[in-house]
Amino acid sequence: MKRQLPKRRDLAPLMKFKKPTLSPKERRLASALTIDDLRRIAKRRTPKAAFDYTDGAADGEVSLARAREAFGDVEFNPAILRDVSTVDTSREVLGKRVALPFGIAPTGFTRMMQAEGEIAGATAAAAAGIPFSLSTMGTTSIEDVAAANPDGRNWFQLYMWKDRDRSMALVDRAAKAGFDTLLVTVDVPVAGARLRDVRNGMTIPPTLTPRTVVNAIPRPAWWINFLTTEPLAFASLDAWSGTVADLLDTMFDPTVTYDDLAWIKDQWPGKVVVKGVQTVDDARRLADVGVDAVLLSNHGGRQLDRAPIPFHLLPQVVAAVGKDVEVHLDTGIMSGQDIVASIAHGAHFTLVGRAYLYGLMAGGRDGVDRMIEILSGQIERTMRLLGVTTLDELEPGHVTQLQRLEPRPRL
Ligand SMILES: Cc1cc2nc3c(=O)[nH]c(=O)nc-3n(C[C@H](O)[C@H](O)[C@H](O)COP(=O)(O)O)c2cc1C
Repeated sequence: MKRQLPKRRDLAPLMKFKKPTLSPKERRLASALTIDDLRRIAKRRTPKAAFDYTDGAADGEVSLARAREAFGDVEFNPAILRDVSTVDTSREVLGKRVALPFGIAPTGFTRMMQAEGEIAGATAAAAAGIPFSLSTMGTTSIEDVAAANPDGRNWFQLYMWKDRDRSMALVDRAAKAGFDTLLVTVDVPVAGARLRDVRNGMTIPPTLTPRTVVNAIPRPAWWINFLTTEPLAFASLDAWSGTVADLLDTMFDPTVTYDDLAWIKDQWPGKVVVKGVQTVDDARRLADVGVDAVLLSNHGGRQLDRAPIPFHLLPQVVAAVGKDVEVHLDTGIMSGQDIVASIAHGAHFTLVGRAYLYGLMAGGRDGVDRMIEILSGQIERTMRLLGVTTLDELEPGHVTQLQRLEPRPRL
């Protein structure tokens, strides 16, 4: 092999020194290529109790692990030799166009994860053309979310409290503020057993103990934000001091039934989605009640552990409810591929909970933007690689569900 000294002329094209990115946040977020990367950043920057409250699930956390495993067990069947130069990821959801097949799920205590909280979620969702859901347990008021996201779509999530008049007063405020969809969550008759919270002594608001102070030392940004912004409080609830489980069990009404749902539906002028549907029978019954969508969800594994995997329920539910009811899905989504697989199996729309909160904890509004950018990039690329250019072209044939976790037929 003949050698020669490198010449400046040959070296020059190889030397691509990028202008350094000055903002550490920009650098941090640009280094995140997946939702798992955002999760790792979030973990570094958030106090343990708040991170675990988000990351954790109920009991042995089996439901959540299985939901993610089910997505991991997807095998895609790509069609080749299609023109995929342009793809359209938008679709009509509950009567209006959305730019992407996912929205932001309702989450409580959001300003505890990161001080920008719901405003970061609502403004990022508006910029991306996707819906934002505000929880009954939110830390920003209905009116403030509406003001932050005046042209986008806001959905309100209802937990029915024992004090029904106060619950319905919230529903009324949401309607007046222009929220177009009500998500009625039905899988929290009582609080799930979130063991990480018990072990961490997690309380609302966070309490300062020697342990939390030690844990705070490497996470100064979170604490500075926490101590120099409006005190953390529920926007729709009175002040509370105690554990989340006690709060839920004190406030929530465990007597809510199908009759109550019909009563709630009569009072809401917009679309109604029931969140937390976990059997084909209930989905069918809800279709008969006339809801606009059923959301297959086990609350991200935070309620009944070992509940059915929403992704597995999809095909049967889609077949059972017919065309008049949209089938939505959440729980376990950590990538755009998970979303594409869900759409192929018949989900009309999906929601992301933790993926959003990991983005928020990793970098506030910019972190939520990054989360949306990562998921939308993965959705577009997967569609192209599968040979489809619209969501409607995705069909069950594009996805094989490998058998590891398939339920056995009932005897
Ligand atoms: C920290 C946290 C708080 C949540 N709070 C609520 C809530 O207040 N109301 C509700 O209906 N669902 C709540 N959920 C459930 C989400 O709406 C959604 O069903 C779940 O996060 C989906 O699973 P994923 O996190 O794997 O995407 C919460 C989830 C998390 C992670």
